[in-house]
Amino acid sequence: MTDSPRHLLASSDLRPHEITDLIVLARRLKASPQPVLKGKELALLFEKPSLRTRMSFDVGMRRLGGDAVYMAPQEVGIGEREAIKDVARAVARYVDIVAFRTFGQANIEEYAKFSSVPVINALTEEEHPCQALADMQTLTEHMGDVAGHSIAFIGDGNNVAASLVVTAASLGMHVRIASPPGYGLPEHVVAEASGRADASGGSFTALTAPDEAVRDAEAVYTDVWTSMGQERETERRRLAFEGYQLDRTMLNYAAPGAFVMHDLPAHRGEEITEDAIESPNSVIFDQAENRLWAQAAVVVTLLGLADSVTG
Ligand code: CP
Ligand code: NVA
Repeated sequence: MTDSPRHLLASSDLRPHEITDLIVLARRLKASPQPVLKGKELALLFEKPSLRTRMSFDVGMRRLGGDAVYMAPQEVGIGEREAIKDVARAVARYVDIVAFRTFGQANIEEYAKFSSVPVINALTEEEHPCQALADMQTLTEHMGDVAGHSIAFIGDGNNVAASLVVTAASLGMHVRIASPPGYGLPEHVVAEASGRADASGGSFTALTAPDEAVRDAEAVYTDVWTSMGQERETERRRLAFEGYQLDRTMLNYAAPGAFVMHDLPAHRGEEITEDAIESPNSVIFDQAENRLWAQAAVVVTLLGLADSVTG
Protein backbone atom coordinates (compact mmCIF):
# COMPACT_ATOMS: atom_id res chain seq x y z
CA MET A 1 0.00 0.00 0.00
CA THR A 2 1.50 3.36 -1.04
CA ASP A 3 1.00 6.67 0.80
CA SER A 4 -2.16 8.38 -0.36
CA PRO A 5 -1.44 11.16 -2.88
CA ARG A 6 -2.26 14.82 -2.40
CA HIS A 7 -5.64 15.79 -3.91
CA LEU A 8 -7.47 19.08 -4.53
CA LEU A 9 -11.08 18.30 -3.67
CA ALA A 10 -12.16 21.60 -2.08
CA SER A 11 -10.74 25.11 -1.82
CA SER A 12 -10.26 24.58 1.91
CA ASP A 13 -7.73 21.81 1.10
CA LEU A 14 -5.25 24.60 0.27
CA ARG A 15 -3.45 26.59 2.97
CA PRO A 16 -3.23 30.34 2.20
CA HIS A 17 0.50 30.15 1.33
CA GLU A 18 -0.24 27.27 -1.07
CA ILE A 19 -2.83 29.42 -2.86
CA THR A 20 -0.24 32.19 -3.22
CA ASP A 21 2.36 29.70 -4.47
CA LEU A 22 -0.08 28.29 -7.04
CA ILE A 23 -0.84 31.77 -8.38
CA VAL A 24 2.87 32.59 -8.64
CA LEU A 25 3.48 29.29 -10.45
CA ALA A 26 0.50 29.81 -12.77
CA ARG A 27 1.85 33.20 -13.79
CA ARG A 28 5.35 31.80 -14.35
CA LEU A 29 3.99 29.00 -16.56
CA LYS A 30 1.86 31.52 -18.46
CA ALA A 31 4.89 33.76 -19.08
CA SER A 32 7.12 30.83 -19.98
CA PRO A 33 5.37 27.54 -20.92
CA GLN A 34 7.83 24.63 -20.67
CA PRO A 35 7.67 20.82 -21.07
CA VAL A 36 7.57 20.09 -17.35
CA LEU A 37 4.72 17.56 -17.83
CA LYS A 38 6.50 15.51 -20.49
CA GLY A 39 5.25 11.93 -20.36
CA LYS A 40 2.41 12.77 -17.94
CA GLU A 41 -1.17 11.78 -18.69
CA LEU A 42 -4.31 13.39 -17.25
CA ALA A 43 -7.73 11.69 -17.23
CA LEU A 44 -10.71 14.04 -17.58
CA LEU A 45 -13.72 12.22 -16.12
CA PHE A 46 -16.80 14.34 -16.71
CA GLU A 47 -20.35 13.60 -15.59
CA LYS A 48 -21.61 17.05 -16.69
CA PRO A 49 -21.03 19.25 -19.77
CA SER A 50 -18.05 21.61 -19.94
CA LEU A 51 -16.36 23.97 -22.36
CA ARG A 52 -13.71 25.82 -20.35
CA THR A 53 -12.68 23.18 -17.83
CA ARG A 54 -12.32 20.41 -20.36
CA MET A 55 -10.49 22.47 -22.99
CA SER A 56 -8.21 24.29 -20.57
CA PHE A 57 -7.10 21.09 -18.83
CA ASP A 58 -6.59 19.32 -22.16
CA VAL A 59 -4.71 22.15 -23.90
CA GLY A 60 -2.82 22.96 -20.67
CA MET A 61 -1.46 19.42 -20.43
CA ARG A 62 -0.29 19.50 -24.06
CA ARG A 63 1.22 22.99 -23.75
CA LEU A 64 3.43 21.59 -20.98
CA GLY A 65 4.44 18.45 -22.87
CA GLY A 66 1.87 16.06 -21.39
CA ASP A 67 -1.38 14.62 -22.69
CA ALA A 68 -5.01 14.18 -21.64
CA VAL A 69 -7.76 11.64 -22.23
CA TYR A 70 -11.42 12.71 -21.97
CA MET A 71 -14.23 10.43 -20.82
CA ALA A 72 -17.74 11.76 -21.48
CA PRO A 73 -20.66 11.35 -19.03
CA GLN A 74 -22.22 8.43 -20.90
CA GLU A 75 -18.87 6.59 -20.97
CA VAL A 76 -17.99 7.06 -17.31
CA GLY A 77 -21.31 5.80 -15.96
CA ILE A 78 -20.07 6.13 -12.40
CA GLY A 79 -22.30 4.48 -9.85
CA GLU A 80 -24.47 3.02 -12.65
CA ARG A 81 -22.23 1.11 -15.03
CA GLU A 82 -19.62 0.64 -12.36
CA ALA A 83 -18.84 1.46 -8.70
CA ILE A 84 -16.80 4.61 -8.04
CA LYS A 85 -14.10 2.66 -6.22
CA ASP A 86 -13.59 0.37 -9.23
CA VAL A 87 -13.36 3.31 -11.67
CA ALA A 88 -10.83 5.06 -9.40
CA ARG A 89 -8.58 2.02 -9.10
CA ALA A 90 -8.70 1.14 -12.82
CA VAL A 91 -8.08 4.70 -14.05
CA ALA A 92 -5.06 5.06 -11.74
CA ARG A 93 -3.42 2.18 -13.64
CA TYR A 94 -3.44 4.27 -16.85
CA VAL A 95 -2.79 7.89 -15.90
CA ASP A 96 -0.74 10.06 -13.54
CA ILE A 97 -3.50 12.42 -12.40
CA VAL A 98 -7.29 12.79 -12.66
CA ALA A 99 -9.68 15.74 -13.01
CA PHE A 100 -13.20 14.71 -12.05
CA ARG A 101 -16.44 16.70 -12.65
CA THR A 102 -19.34 15.12 -10.81
CA PHE A 103 -22.50 15.88 -8.84
CA GLY A 104 -22.18 15.59 -5.04
CA GLN A 105 -18.93 16.27 -3.19
CA ALA A 106 -19.32 12.81 -1.60
CA ASN A 107 -18.65 11.26 -5.04
CA ILE A 108 -15.25 12.90 -5.42
CA GLU A 109 -14.32 12.15 -1.81
CA GLU A 110 -15.17 8.49 -2.37
CA TYR A 111 -13.21 8.50 -5.65
CA ALA A 112 -10.14 10.07 -4.01
CA LYS A 113 -10.20 7.54 -1.20
CA PHE A 114 -9.57 4.80 -3.75
CA SER A 115 -7.29 6.67 -6.17
CA SER A 116 -3.55 6.06 -5.97
CA VAL A 117 -2.99 9.15 -8.18
CA PRO A 118 -3.91 12.78 -7.37
CA VAL A 119 -7.53 13.84 -7.96
CA ILE A 120 -8.56 17.40 -8.86
CA ASN A 121 -12.10 18.69 -8.41
CA ALA A 122 -13.21 19.90 -11.86
CA LEU A 123 -16.56 21.06 -10.33
CA THR A 124 -18.99 19.47 -7.93
CA GLU A 125 -22.28 20.81 -6.63
CA GLU A 126 -20.41 22.17 -3.60
CA GLU A 127 -17.02 23.33 -4.92
CA HIS A 128 -15.17 24.73 -7.94
CA PRO A 129 -11.62 25.23 -6.62
CA CYS A 130 -9.91 25.56 -10.04
CA GLN A 131 -12.25 28.40 -10.95
CA ALA A 132 -11.41 30.29 -7.74
CA LEU A 133 -7.66 29.94 -8.36
CA ALA A 134 -8.04 31.31 -11.90
CA ASP A 135 -10.19 34.15 -10.52
CA MET A 136 -7.55 35.13 -7.97
CA GLN A 137 -4.83 34.88 -10.62
CA THR A 138 -6.90 37.25 -12.76
CA LEU A 139 -7.37 39.79 -9.98
CA THR A 140 -3.67 39.56 -9.10
CA GLU A 141 -2.80 40.38 -12.70
CA HIS A 142 -5.09 43.42 -12.62
CA MET A 143 -4.65 44.66 -9.02
CA GLY A 144 -1.24 43.38 -7.94
CA ASP A 145 -1.42 41.87 -4.44
CA VAL A 146 -5.15 41.37 -3.80
CA ALA A 147 -4.80 41.71 0.00
CA GLY A 148 -6.82 44.67 1.27
CA HIS A 149 -8.88 44.91 -1.95
CA SER A 150 -12.61 44.17 -2.00
CA ILE A 151 -14.81 41.77 -3.94
CA ALA A 152 -18.59 41.29 -3.88
CA PHE A 153 -20.47 38.21 -5.09
CA ILE A 154 -24.20 38.53 -5.72
CA GLY A 155 -26.45 35.56 -6.38
CA ASP A 156 -26.58 31.90 -5.50
CA GLY A 157 -24.42 30.60 -2.63
CA ASN A 158 -23.33 27.80 -4.96
CA ASN A 159 -20.12 25.92 -5.86
CA VAL A 160 -18.46 28.94 -7.51
CA ALA A 161 -19.39 31.25 -4.61
CA ALA A 162 -18.17 28.78 -1.97
CA SER A 163 -14.75 28.32 -3.55
CA LEU A 164 -14.42 32.04 -4.31
CA VAL A 165 -15.12 33.29 -0.77
CA VAL A 166 -12.76 30.81 0.89
CA THR A 167 -9.94 31.50 -1.60
CA ALA A 168 -10.35 35.30 -1.61
CA ALA A 169 -10.62 35.46 2.20
CA SER A 170 -7.44 33.36 2.47
CA LEU A 171 -5.58 36.03 0.48
CA GLY A 172 -6.67 38.93 2.72
CA MET A 173 -9.46 40.29 0.52
CA HIS A 174 -12.55 42.00 1.93
CA VAL A 175 -15.29 39.67 0.73
CA ARG A 176 -19.03 40.33 0.77
CA ILE A 177 -21.72 38.04 -0.61
CA ALA A 178 -25.44 38.70 -0.98
CA SER A 179 -27.90 35.90 -1.68
CA PRO A 180 -31.69 35.71 -1.33
CA PRO A 181 -32.93 34.07 1.89
CA GLY A 182 -32.73 30.30 1.52
CA TYR A 183 -30.02 30.48 -1.17
CA GLY A 184 -27.04 31.48 0.95
CA LEU A 185 -23.76 29.64 1.45
CA PRO A 186 -23.73 26.53 3.65
CA GLU A 187 -22.81 27.21 7.28
CA HIS A 188 -19.48 25.38 7.08
CA VAL A 189 -18.39 27.60 4.17
CA VAL A 190 -19.34 30.76 6.10
CA ALA A 191 -17.30 29.50 9.06
CA GLU A 192 -14.31 28.61 6.85
CA ALA A 193 -14.32 31.96 5.02
CA SER A 194 -14.71 33.90 8.28
CA GLY A 195 -11.85 32.02 9.94
CA ARG A 196 -9.57 32.53 6.95
CA ALA A 197 -10.44 36.23 6.74
CA ASP A 198 -9.64 36.66 10.45
CA ALA A 199 -6.27 34.99 9.92
CA SER A 200 -5.37 36.93 6.75
CA GLY A 201 -6.42 40.43 7.82
CA GLY A 202 -9.28 40.41 5.32
CA SER A 203 -12.98 40.27 6.15
CA PHE A 204 -16.03 38.23 5.22
CA THR A 205 -19.67 39.33 5.36
CA ALA A 206 -22.75 37.37 4.24
CA LEU A 207 -25.80 39.52 3.52
CA THR A 208 -29.12 39.39 1.72
CA ALA A 209 -29.16 42.94 0.25
CA PRO A 210 -27.19 42.98 -3.04
CA ASP A 211 -26.64 46.77 -3.09
CA GLU A 212 -25.04 46.58 0.38
CA ALA A 213 -22.67 43.84 -0.77
CA VAL A 214 -21.72 45.70 -3.93
CA ARG A 215 -21.26 49.16 -2.36
CA ASP A 216 -17.73 50.42 -3.15
CA ALA A 217 -16.54 46.92 -4.14
CA GLU A 218 -13.55 46.87 -6.49
CA ALA A 219 -14.71 43.66 -8.17
CA VAL A 220 -18.26 42.39 -8.61
CA TYR A 221 -18.87 38.72 -9.40
CA THR A 222 -21.94 36.70 -10.24
CA ASP A 223 -22.81 33.19 -11.45
CA VAL A 224 -25.91 31.48 -12.83
CA TRP A 225 -29.00 31.24 -10.65
CA THR A 226 -29.68 27.70 -11.86
CA SER A 227 -26.66 25.41 -11.86
CA MET A 228 -26.23 22.19 -13.84
CA GLY A 229 -28.53 19.56 -12.40
CA GLN A 230 -31.03 22.12 -10.98
CA GLU A 231 -32.91 22.75 -14.25
CA ARG A 232 -36.28 21.78 -12.74
CA GLU A 233 -35.95 24.71 -10.30
CA THR A 234 -35.37 27.33 -13.01
CA GLU A 235 -38.71 29.16 -12.68
CA ARG A 236 -38.68 29.17 -8.87
CA ARG A 237 -35.11 30.47 -8.89
CA ARG A 238 -35.90 33.25 -11.40
CA LEU A 239 -38.49 34.57 -8.96
CA ALA A 240 -36.27 34.14 -5.88
CA PHE A 241 -33.32 35.95 -7.47
CA GLU A 242 -35.26 38.93 -8.82
CA GLY A 243 -33.28 42.06 -7.85
CA TYR A 244 -29.93 40.21 -7.82
CA GLN A 245 -29.05 40.85 -11.46
CA LEU A 246 -25.62 42.30 -12.18
CA ASP A 247 -26.63 45.23 -14.37
CA ARG A 248 -25.67 48.86 -14.86
CA THR A 249 -27.68 49.99 -11.80
CA MET A 250 -25.97 47.42 -9.58
CA LEU A 251 -22.55 48.39 -10.96
CA ASN A 252 -23.25 52.02 -10.05
CA TYR A 253 -23.05 51.02 -6.36
CA ALA A 254 -19.56 49.58 -6.88
CA ALA A 255 -16.27 51.50 -6.85
CA PRO A 256 -15.61 53.40 -10.09
CA GLY A 257 -13.98 51.06 -12.61
CA ALA A 258 -14.94 47.93 -10.62
CA PHE A 259 -14.01 44.70 -12.38
CA VAL A 260 -16.96 42.64 -13.67
CA MET A 261 -16.50 38.91 -13.10
CA HIS A 262 -18.35 35.75 -14.15
CA ASP A 263 -17.08 32.17 -14.41
CA LEU A 264 -19.25 31.40 -17.53
CA PRO A 265 -21.42 30.05 -19.01
CA ALA A 266 -23.58 33.16 -18.48
CA HIS A 267 -27.35 33.34 -18.76
CA ARG A 268 -27.74 36.82 -20.26
CA GLY A 269 -30.84 38.63 -18.97
CA GLU A 270 -30.91 36.48 -15.81
CA GLU A 271 -27.97 36.94 -13.43
CA ILE A 272 -26.11 39.39 -15.70
CA THR A 273 -26.91 41.80 -18.52
CA GLU A 274 -25.27 41.97 -21.91
CA ASP A 275 -23.80 45.43 -21.16
CA ALA A 276 -22.22 44.22 -17.91
CA ILE A 277 -20.56 41.30 -19.71
CA GLU A 278 -19.34 43.58 -22.48
CA SER A 279 -18.33 46.49 -20.21
CA PRO A 280 -14.77 47.81 -20.54
CA ASN A 281 -14.11 46.66 -16.97
CA SER A 282 -15.11 43.06 -17.64
CA VAL A 283 -12.30 40.57 -16.90
CA ILE A 284 -14.54 37.61 -17.69
CA PHE A 285 -12.45 36.28 -20.58
CA ASP A 286 -9.23 36.76 -18.60
CA GLN A 287 -10.81 34.48 -16.00
CA ALA A 288 -11.53 31.93 -18.73
CA GLU A 289 -7.97 32.19 -20.09
CA ASN A 290 -6.40 31.79 -16.66
CA ARG A 291 -8.21 28.51 -16.04
CA LEU A 292 -5.53 26.92 -18.23
CA TRP A 293 -2.60 28.30 -16.22
CA ALA A 294 -4.10 27.94 -12.75
CA GLN A 295 -4.94 24.30 -13.47
CA ALA A 296 -1.51 23.70 -15.00
CA ALA A 297 -0.03 24.96 -11.74
CA VAL A 298 -2.26 22.58 -9.76
CA VAL A 299 -1.25 19.60 -11.92
CA VAL A 300 2.46 20.46 -11.71
CA THR A 301 2.23 20.94 -7.94
CA LEU A 302 0.25 17.78 -7.19
CA LEU A 303 2.73 15.79 -9.28
CA GLY A 304 5.58 17.21 -7.19
CA LEU A 305 7.15 18.98 -10.18
CA ALA A 306 6.89 22.63 -9.10
CA ASP A 307 10.61 22.85 -8.30
CA SER A 308 11.53 21.86 -11.84
CA VAL A 309 9.79 24.90 -13.34
CA THR A 310 12.31 27.48 -14.51
CA GLY A 311 11.95 31.20 -15.21
N1 CP B 1 -16.50 27.98 -15.72
C1 CP B 1 -16.55 26.67 -16.08
O1 CP B 1 -16.20 25.78 -15.30
O2 CP B 1 -16.99 26.45 -17.33
P1 CP B 1 -17.36 25.03 -17.99
O3 CP B 1 -18.57 24.50 -17.27
O4 CP B 1 -17.63 25.33 -19.43
O5 CP B 1 -16.19 24.11 -17.80
N1 NVA C 1 -22.66 27.07 -10.79
C1 NVA C 1 -22.47 26.60 -12.15
C2 NVA C 1 -21.05 26.76 -12.55
C3 NVA C 1 -20.74 26.33 -13.96
C4 NVA C 1 -19.28 26.47 -14.31
C5 NVA C 1 -22.90 25.15 -12.25
O1 NVA C 1 -22.59 24.37 -11.35
O2 NVA C 1 -23.58 24.80 -13.22
